[in-house]
Amino acid sequence: MFELRCTVRKCAHTLVQSENGLTCAAGHHFDQAKEGYWNITQPQDKKSLNPGDNPNAVLARHRWLERGHAAGLIESLQPWIPGAHPQMRILDLGCGDGTFGPSLFPHHPTGFCGIDLSRPAIKLAARRWPEATWVLANADRGLPAMDASVDCVMSLFGRRPAAEISRVLSPSGCCVVAVPGEDDLIELREQVQKEGKRRSRVEAIIEQMKDNGLKCIEQKQWRTEIEVAPEEIADALAMTYRAVRRSEQSRIASIDATKVTLAADLMQFRKGSD
Ligand SMILES: C[S@@+](CC[C@H](N)C(=O)[O-])C[C@H]1O[C@@H](n2cnc3c(N)ncnc32)[C@H](O)[C@@H]1O
Ligand SMILES: [Zn+2]
Repeated sequence: MFELRCTVRKCAHTLVQSENGLTCAAGHHFDQAKEGYWNITQPQDKKSLNPGDNPNAVLARHRWLERGHAAGLIESLQPWIPGAHPQMRILDLGCGDGTFGPSLFPHHPTGFCGIDLSRPAIKLAARRWPEATWVLANADRGLPAMDASVDCVMSLFGRRPAAEISRVLSPSGCCVVAVPGEDDLIELREQVQKEGKRRSRVEAIIEQMKDNGLKCIEQKQWRTEIEVAPEEIADALAMTYRAVRRSEQSRIASIDATKVTLAADLMQFRKGSD
């Protein structure tokens, strides 16, 4: 399994797997959930202002991905996946239902670790690809990996703790980031929110990563148009825009099958600056 680091405050020893769970040299112990994931959250993590996606959003995204809507995105990400070596380690921050891991790293289950703070998400992920390591943890409270040990950190529409990403990346490692593009689902947002704000996050992310010693070496867009059925529309909005107000819900219900833009900004980072 992926070598994890103890999450107890100020500990950071390696967690070693034994018959009855994971234990560090200081004696801290974590059990494996019956669904196969490891709960390494600390009591203070549960009080987080951001407890991970709620079950509705997780299930909406799960249904959406099961319909194959991310197939083109996966294809766009593939060229950025580092060349395989037997000990390759991958960390997926905010892995959700775990769709992307087995699609992008099918031959590396033992080097792959997905982190999410949502229990329903991590359960779906562990069921999908039990050979990989899945942890319920707060990616904003320190990553459970040793320094300079990870070959590829992924943040696909998830958390981006830049200082920690920089700490865990190996000198030749890369970090792959995806965020919604400015016209992602624009047709739906225009109908539901009346205005449908267009906002690119790219510059701010590149700046934040740069401040933490991570240089953007490539950037591209993934964009497609698809026809969505009425029952998919609510899922599309629920998985992306959390605060759907009551007044907006009735507008969602009245949208017919329609053409929708899917767009994501993709960035690849490596250690370094200039
Ligand atoms: C928009 S979803 C993307 C999921 C997945 N990467 C995908 O593209 O399908 C964002 C995910 O980040 C998780 N998340 C939010 N805050 C988190 C945190 N502090 N630590 C770990 N995961 C978190 C959510 O529970 C959710 O599953
Ligand atoms: Zn410990």
